[in-house]
Amino acid sequence: MHVSKLFDLSGKVALVTGGAGNYGKCIVEGLIEAGATVVVTSRRVDQAKQDLAEYLQPGYSLTVLELDQESISSIDTFMQELKQRYAKVDVFVNNAVSRPMKGFHGDIDQFRQSMEVNATGMFYLLRELSAWMSDTGGGSVINIASMMGMKGPDYSNYKGTSMGDLPPDYFFHNAGLINLNRFMCKKYAGKQLRFNCISPGGLFNHQAEQFLTNYCEKVPLGRMANTDDIKGLIVLLASQAGAYINGENILMDGGLNA
Ligand SMILES: NC(=O)c1ccc[n+]([C@@H]2O[C@H](COP(=O)([O-])OP(=O)(O)OC[C@H]3O[C@@H](n4cnc5c(N)ncnc54)[C@H](O)[C@@H]3O)[C@@H](O)[C@H]2O)c1
Repeated sequence: MHVSKLFDLSGKVALVTGGAGNYGKCIVEGLIEAGATVVVTSRRVDQAKQDLAEYLQPGYSLTVLELDQESISSIDTFMQELKQRYAKVDVFVNNAVSRPMKGFHGDIDQFRQSMEVNATGMFYLLRELSAWMSDTGGGSVINIASMMGMKGPDYSNYKGTSMGDLPPDYFFHNAGLINLNRFMCKKYAGKQLRFNCISPGGLFNHQAEQFLTNYCEKVPLGRMANTDDIKGLIVLLASQAGAYINGENILMDGGLNA
Protein backbone atom coordinates (compact mmCIF):
# COMPACT_ATOMS: atom_id res chain seq x y z
CA MET A 1 0.00 0.00 0.00
CA HIS A 2 1.23 3.53 -0.77
CA VAL A 3 2.63 5.19 2.32
CA SER A 4 0.20 8.13 2.12
CA LYS A 5 -2.67 5.60 2.21
CA LEU A 6 -1.11 3.81 5.19
CA PHE A 7 -1.34 7.01 7.28
CA ASP A 8 -4.78 8.03 5.97
CA LEU A 9 -7.60 7.97 8.53
CA SER A 10 -10.44 8.87 6.14
CA GLY A 11 -13.59 6.96 7.01
CA LYS A 12 -12.30 6.06 10.49
CA VAL A 13 -14.02 7.10 13.72
CA ALA A 14 -11.68 8.12 16.53
CA LEU A 15 -12.70 8.75 20.13
CA VAL A 16 -10.55 10.99 22.36
CA THR A 17 -11.38 11.35 26.06
CA GLY A 18 -10.49 14.74 27.50
CA GLY A 19 -9.98 15.95 23.93
CA ALA A 20 -10.34 19.62 24.85
CA GLY A 21 -7.37 19.48 27.26
CA ASN A 22 -3.75 20.39 26.56
CA TYR A 23 -2.47 17.21 24.91
CA GLY A 24 -6.04 16.29 23.96
CA LYS A 25 -6.36 19.21 21.55
CA CYS A 26 -3.09 18.25 19.81
CA ILE A 27 -4.33 14.65 19.51
CA VAL A 28 -7.69 15.75 18.09
CA GLU A 29 -5.93 18.02 15.60
CA GLY A 30 -3.65 15.20 14.38
CA LEU A 31 -6.55 12.76 13.94
CA ILE A 32 -8.79 15.29 12.19
CA GLU A 33 -6.01 16.43 9.85
CA ALA A 34 -5.38 12.78 8.92
CA GLY A 35 -9.04 12.54 7.85
CA ALA A 36 -10.74 10.90 10.86
CA THR A 37 -14.22 11.62 12.17
CA VAL A 38 -13.46 12.56 15.78
CA VAL A 39 -15.59 12.19 18.90
CA VAL A 40 -14.38 14.08 21.97
CA THR A 41 -15.68 13.48 25.47
CA SER A 42 -15.93 16.14 28.13
CA ARG A 43 -17.73 16.79 31.39
CA ARG A 44 -18.52 20.30 30.14
CA VAL A 45 -19.72 19.94 26.56
CA ASP A 46 -20.33 23.66 25.91
CA GLN A 47 -16.88 24.64 27.15
CA ALA A 48 -15.24 21.87 25.11
CA LYS A 49 -17.11 23.06 22.01
CA GLN A 50 -15.74 26.56 22.57
CA ASP A 51 -12.21 25.21 23.05
CA LEU A 52 -12.44 23.16 19.84
CA ALA A 53 -14.50 25.70 17.84
CA GLU A 54 -12.14 25.73 14.84
CA TYR A 55 -12.85 22.01 14.23
CA LEU A 56 -16.62 22.46 14.45
CA GLN A 57 -16.48 24.34 11.12
CA PRO A 58 -17.50 22.78 7.79
CA GLY A 59 -14.78 20.55 6.36
CA TYR A 60 -14.15 18.78 9.66
CA SER A 61 -16.11 16.09 11.45
CA LEU A 62 -16.07 16.60 15.20
CA THR A 63 -18.68 15.74 17.84
CA VAL A 64 -18.49 16.42 21.58
CA LEU A 65 -20.30 14.02 23.93
CA GLU A 66 -20.70 14.24 27.69
CA LEU A 67 -18.77 11.85 29.90
CA ASP A 68 -17.70 12.01 33.52
CA GLN A 69 -15.08 9.32 34.04
CA GLU A 70 -15.66 9.47 37.79
CA SER A 71 -19.17 8.05 37.37
CA ILE A 72 -19.94 4.49 36.22
CA SER A 73 -23.50 5.49 35.29
CA SER A 74 -22.15 8.36 33.16
CA ILE A 75 -19.88 5.86 31.36
CA ASP A 76 -22.86 3.53 30.79
CA THR A 77 -24.98 6.38 29.39
CA PHE A 78 -22.09 7.51 27.19
CA MET A 79 -21.55 3.99 25.81
CA GLN A 80 -25.25 3.73 24.92
CA GLU A 81 -25.16 7.06 23.09
CA LEU A 82 -21.95 6.16 21.28
CA LYS A 83 -23.41 2.86 20.07
CA GLN A 84 -26.60 4.60 18.90
CA ARG A 85 -24.64 7.16 16.89
CA TYR A 86 -21.86 5.04 15.39
CA ALA A 87 -21.66 1.52 13.97
CA LYS A 88 -18.12 1.23 15.36
CA VAL A 89 -15.16 3.14 16.72
CA ASP A 90 -11.83 2.40 15.02
CA VAL A 91 -9.51 4.35 17.31
CA PHE A 92 -9.76 5.05 21.03
CA VAL A 93 -7.33 7.52 22.60
CA ASN A 94 -7.55 7.07 26.37
CA ASN A 95 -6.30 10.53 27.31
CA ALA A 96 -8.46 12.11 30.05
CA VAL A 97 -6.77 12.67 33.38
CA SER A 98 -7.87 14.21 36.65
CA ARG A 99 -5.32 15.84 38.94
CA PRO A 100 -7.15 16.30 42.26
CA MET A 101 -4.16 15.56 44.50
CA LYS A 102 -2.21 18.57 45.71
CA GLY A 103 1.18 17.26 46.79
CA PHE A 104 2.48 14.29 48.75
CA HIS A 105 0.60 15.22 51.94
CA GLY A 106 -2.67 16.10 50.17
CA ASP A 107 -5.86 14.87 51.83
CA ILE A 108 -6.22 11.11 51.27
CA ASP A 109 -9.66 11.74 49.74
CA GLN A 110 -7.83 13.50 46.90
CA PHE A 111 -5.96 10.25 46.26
CA ARG A 112 -9.23 8.33 46.41
CA GLN A 113 -10.87 10.71 43.92
CA SER A 114 -7.89 10.39 41.59
CA MET A 115 -8.27 6.61 41.62
CA GLU A 116 -12.01 6.88 40.92
CA VAL A 117 -11.28 8.79 37.70
CA ASN A 118 -7.81 7.65 36.64
CA ALA A 119 -8.02 3.99 37.70
CA THR A 120 -11.58 2.69 38.27
CA GLY A 121 -13.45 4.84 35.72
CA MET A 122 -10.59 4.72 33.25
CA PHE A 123 -10.46 0.90 33.41
CA TYR A 124 -14.24 0.51 33.17
CA LEU A 125 -14.37 2.69 30.06
CA LEU A 126 -11.33 0.94 28.55
CA ARG A 127 -12.89 -2.49 29.20
CA GLU A 128 -16.29 -1.53 27.76
CA LEU A 129 -14.86 0.14 24.67
CA SER A 130 -12.34 -2.61 24.00
CA ALA A 131 -15.09 -5.25 24.10
CA TRP A 132 -17.25 -3.26 21.68
CA MET A 133 -14.36 -2.44 19.34
CA SER A 134 -13.37 -6.09 19.29
CA ASP A 135 -16.96 -7.20 18.57
CA THR A 136 -17.22 -4.73 15.69
CA GLY A 137 -14.04 -5.63 13.83
CA GLY A 138 -11.12 -4.40 15.93
CA GLY A 139 -9.02 -1.25 15.77
CA SER A 140 -6.40 0.67 17.70
CA VAL A 141 -6.37 1.72 21.36
CA ILE A 142 -3.83 4.35 22.36
CA ASN A 143 -3.33 4.88 26.07
CA ILE A 144 -1.76 8.19 27.04
CA ALA A 145 0.40 7.72 30.14
CA SER A 146 3.45 9.83 31.06
CA MET A 147 7.20 9.59 31.40
CA MET A 148 6.34 10.09 35.09
CA GLY A 149 4.90 6.57 35.02
CA MET A 150 8.35 5.26 34.07
CA LYS A 151 10.60 6.91 36.66
CA GLY A 152 10.60 8.65 40.01
CA PRO A 153 10.37 12.42 40.32
CA ASP A 154 13.31 14.57 39.26
CA TYR A 155 13.08 17.20 41.98
CA SER A 156 15.99 19.17 40.52
CA ASN A 157 13.62 20.38 37.77
CA TYR A 158 11.72 22.38 40.38
CA LYS A 159 14.68 24.07 42.15
CA GLY A 160 13.98 27.77 42.60
CA THR A 161 10.24 27.32 41.89
CA SER A 162 7.19 26.69 44.07
CA MET A 163 6.20 23.64 41.97
CA GLY A 164 8.19 20.87 43.66
CA ASP A 165 5.56 19.04 45.76
CA LEU A 166 4.67 16.42 43.17
CA PRO A 167 1.42 14.40 43.54
CA PRO A 168 2.16 10.68 44.04
CA ASP A 169 -1.14 9.51 42.53
CA TYR A 170 0.01 10.69 39.10
CA PHE A 171 3.14 8.50 39.19
CA PHE A 172 1.07 5.57 40.50
CA HIS A 173 -1.76 5.55 37.95
CA ASN A 174 0.45 6.33 34.96
CA ALA A 175 2.78 3.44 35.84
CA GLY A 176 -0.29 1.22 36.22
CA LEU A 177 -1.63 2.26 32.84
CA ILE A 178 1.64 1.32 31.12
CA ASN A 179 1.36 -2.24 32.39
CA LEU A 180 -2.42 -2.40 31.92
CA ASN A 181 -1.68 -1.65 28.26
CA ARG A 182 0.43 -4.84 28.08
CA PHE A 183 -2.31 -6.79 29.87
CA MET A 184 -4.93 -5.63 27.35
CA CYS A 185 -2.66 -6.47 24.44
CA LYS A 186 -2.36 -10.08 25.65
CA LYS A 187 -6.01 -10.31 26.72
CA TYR A 188 -7.17 -9.37 23.22
CA ALA A 189 -4.77 -11.62 21.36
CA GLY A 190 -6.34 -12.80 18.12
CA LYS A 191 -9.09 -10.14 18.19
CA GLN A 192 -7.50 -7.59 15.82
CA LEU A 193 -7.42 -4.92 18.52
CA ARG A 194 -4.02 -3.26 19.07
CA PHE A 195 -3.03 -1.58 22.34
CA ASN A 196 -0.20 0.91 22.56
CA CYS A 197 0.86 3.44 25.11
CA ILE A 198 2.49 6.83 24.62
CA SER A 199 4.45 8.22 27.57
CA PRO A 200 5.00 11.88 26.79
CA GLY A 201 7.34 14.33 28.44
CA GLY A 202 6.18 17.80 29.48
CA LEU A 203 4.17 19.91 27.04
CA PHE A 204 5.16 23.58 26.92
CA ASN A 205 2.43 25.56 28.66
CA HIS A 206 4.05 28.81 29.74
CA GLN A 207 5.53 27.21 32.87
CA ALA A 208 7.67 29.27 35.27
CA GLU A 209 10.93 30.50 33.67
CA GLN A 210 13.12 28.80 36.27
CA PHE A 211 11.39 25.46 35.70
CA LEU A 212 11.81 25.81 31.93
CA THR A 213 15.53 26.53 32.35
CA ASN A 214 16.05 23.59 34.73
CA TYR A 215 14.07 21.17 32.56
CA CYS A 216 15.16 22.17 29.08
CA GLU A 217 18.89 22.05 29.84
CA LYS A 218 18.47 18.29 30.54
CA VAL A 219 16.58 17.58 27.31
CA PRO A 220 18.95 16.73 24.44
CA LEU A 221 16.60 18.62 22.09
CA GLY A 222 16.74 21.60 24.47
CA ARG A 223 13.01 22.22 24.75
CA MET A 224 9.69 20.96 26.06
CA ALA A 225 7.23 19.20 23.75
CA ASN A 226 5.27 21.49 21.44
CA THR A 227 1.73 21.10 20.15
CA ASP A 228 2.85 19.26 16.97
CA ASP A 229 5.08 16.69 18.63
CA ILE A 230 2.47 14.09 19.53
CA LYS A 231 0.42 14.34 16.32
CA GLY A 232 2.55 12.11 14.09
CA LEU A 233 2.91 9.40 16.72
CA ILE A 234 -0.86 9.35 17.28
CA VAL A 235 -1.56 9.02 13.56
CA LEU A 236 1.09 6.30 13.22
CA LEU A 237 -0.44 4.22 16.01
CA ALA A 238 -4.02 4.92 14.91
CA SER A 239 -3.51 4.01 11.26
CA GLN A 240 -2.52 1.08 9.06
CA ALA A 241 1.02 2.51 9.17
CA GLY A 242 1.23 1.13 12.72
CA ALA A 243 -0.54 -2.14 11.97
CA TYR A 244 2.25 -4.31 13.43
CA ILE A 245 2.98 -2.16 16.50
CA ASN A 246 1.18 -3.72 19.46
CA GLY A 247 1.72 -3.85 23.22
CA GLU A 248 4.33 -1.08 23.05
CA ASN A 249 5.02 1.87 25.33
CA ILE A 250 6.68 4.72 23.44
CA LEU A 251 8.53 7.38 25.40
CA MET A 252 8.20 10.78 23.68
CA ASP A 253 10.42 13.08 25.71
CA GLY A 254 12.97 14.69 23.39
CA GLY A 255 15.63 12.35 24.79
CA LEU A 256 15.31 13.51 28.41
CA ASN A 257 15.35 9.97 29.79
CA ALA A 258 17.83 8.49 27.31
N1 LIG B 1 0.59 18.07 29.81
C1 LIG B 1 1.73 17.41 29.98
O1 LIG B 1 2.81 18.00 30.07
C2 LIG B 1 1.72 15.90 30.04
C3 LIG B 1 2.95 15.25 30.15
C4 LIG B 1 2.97 13.86 30.14
C5 LIG B 1 1.80 13.16 30.02
N2 LIG B 1 0.61 13.81 29.92
C6 LIG B 1 -0.60 13.00 29.78
O2 LIG B 1 -1.42 13.54 28.77
C7 LIG B 1 -2.79 13.24 29.05
C8 LIG B 1 -3.58 14.53 29.00
O3 LIG B 1 -3.05 15.41 29.96
P1 LIG B 1 -3.17 17.00 29.81
O4 LIG B 1 -1.95 17.57 30.37
O5 LIG B 1 -3.59 17.34 28.44
O6 LIG B 1 -4.33 17.26 30.85
P2 LIG B 1 -5.48 18.35 30.85
O7 LIG B 1 -5.81 18.57 32.28
O8 LIG B 1 -5.14 19.53 30.00
O9 LIG B 1 -6.66 17.55 30.14
C9 LIG B 1 -7.24 16.46 30.76
C10 LIG B 1 -8.67 16.34 30.29
O10 LIG B 1 -9.31 15.32 31.06
C11 LIG B 1 -10.57 15.80 31.46
N3 LIG B 1 -11.05 15.19 32.70
C12 LIG B 1 -10.62 15.40 33.96
N4 LIG B 1 -11.39 14.74 34.85
C13 LIG B 1 -12.32 14.10 34.11
C14 LIG B 1 -13.42 13.26 34.44
N5 LIG B 1 -13.75 12.99 35.72
N6 LIG B 1 -14.17 12.76 33.44
C15 LIG B 1 -13.89 13.07 32.16
N7 LIG B 1 -12.88 13.86 31.77
C16 LIG B 1 -12.11 14.38 32.75
C17 LIG B 1 -10.37 17.30 31.65
O11 LIG B 1 -11.59 18.00 31.61
C18 LIG B 1 -9.47 17.62 30.48
O12 LIG B 1 -10.20 17.87 29.31
C19 LIG B 1 -2.81 12.59 30.43
O13 LIG B 1 -2.92 11.20 30.28
C20 LIG B 1 -1.47 12.95 31.03
O14 LIG B 1 -1.01 11.99 31.94
C21 LIG B 1 0.53 15.17 29.94
